[in-house]
Amino acid sequence: MKTRSLMCLTVLALAVVSASPSYAATPAQIAQAEYDEVMTLEPDLESGRATFLTCTVCHKPEGWGTPDGSYPQIAGQLRTVIIKQLADIRARHRHNPLMYPFSIPHTLGGVQQIADVAAYVAQLPMTPYNGVGPGFDLDLGQRLFEDNCVECHGKQGEGNSEEHIPAIAGQHYNYLVREFDLIRANRRGNADPKMVKHVKGFSRREESAVLDYTSRLRPPAEKLAKGGWLNPDFPYYARPPEPEWPPIAPMPEPAPMPPMPEPPAMPAFPESPAMGFGREQLPPPEPPPPPSTNPWSQ
Ligand code: HEC
Ligand code: HEC
Repeated sequence: MKTRSLMCLTVLALAVVSASPSYAATPAQIAQAEYDEVMTLEPDLESGRATFLTCTVCHKPEGWGTPDGSYPQIAGQLRTVIIKQLADIRARHRHNPLMYPFSIPHTLGGVQQIADVAAYVAQLPMTPYNGVGPGFDLDLGQRLFEDNCVECHGKQGEGNSEEHIPAIAGQHYNYLVREFDLIRANRRGNADPKMVKHVKGFSRREESAVLDYTSRLRPPAEKLAKGGWLNPDFPYYARPPEPEWPPIAPMPEPAPMPPMPEPPAMPAFPESPAMGFGREQLPPPEPPPPPSTNPWSQ
């Protein structure tokens, strides 16, 4: 009896193992299934605020990231895009090793928490001070944007909620460059193949021009924060003591140095008449004494 049930188990296990390859879901399918489930839920903003506490460590309490682009601005991003990126990151469909541990169920929570935090982040006002590019070549940038990006990302870079295409206007320039490179080299994981085809042939100059233009596209006024806005939901967040904006004032001119006083004249060195300093003035050495003729001194 025992052997038979063991055999049954073995057969069952073998069947599962041999069948599993055809059932194994790809990361893209796992992420898509989670996205679909999140989209059926009603978000709770208060719960989203509580969940967002973890995210503030990197994305800052305003959701503005950092102007150097190490952390992207996520404030004001389309809700569907945030949901898709979170689902993609935790299914490892988008490679993001830094954020991955904060996206898994153990830290972030389940589908309801994704719905909540995405709704919270999407309603945050965006920074008016995002990082921008070098600022020349903007005409070329505009031309390239209109010819290659508008059809998916929209005329103002506002994205497309239905198709979860990201809003890219007003994003930090350095982050845009990093993502553009990752997408083009197919190293982001969830790169859109149609976008890759569009941007494949861009030279460095064209890439810089179009992304500089994108970073300078202004989101609509009602999506932008007023200068100096701080997220009142996180009043105890430890911030740098000085506000980061406006830019630091130039250094004041240093006061002219007072002229150095003349040093007092050195007293004259007294002449020493008898002694010279050179060896040549010393008396010649004594000649050695002649050998002694006294036998007692031997
Ligand atoms: C340890 C730092 C860290 C934490 C914590 C973190 N993130 Fe991120 N996040 C990143 C980095 C870095 C990126 C960009 C990665 C890249 O360059 O592709 C990112 C990217 C994202 C993106 C994609 C943005 C885009 O434009 O495609 C979203 C959405 C996001 N994070 C949301 C969140 C949320 C919500 C939380 C909190 C639950 C969170 N992050 C916590 C570091 C972090
Ligand atoms: C065929 C549609 C399409 C075209 C054309 C296209 N994109 Fe994209 N792009 C996408 C989609 C879709 C994504 C998001 C993919 C994903 O993560 O699921 C994306 C993502 C991006 C991202 C990353 C955004 C983020 O928040 O992480 C950048 C940057 C970007 N595109 C820039 C551009 C620029 C610049 C152009 C024009 C030169 C362009 N794209 C043309 C569809 C397109």
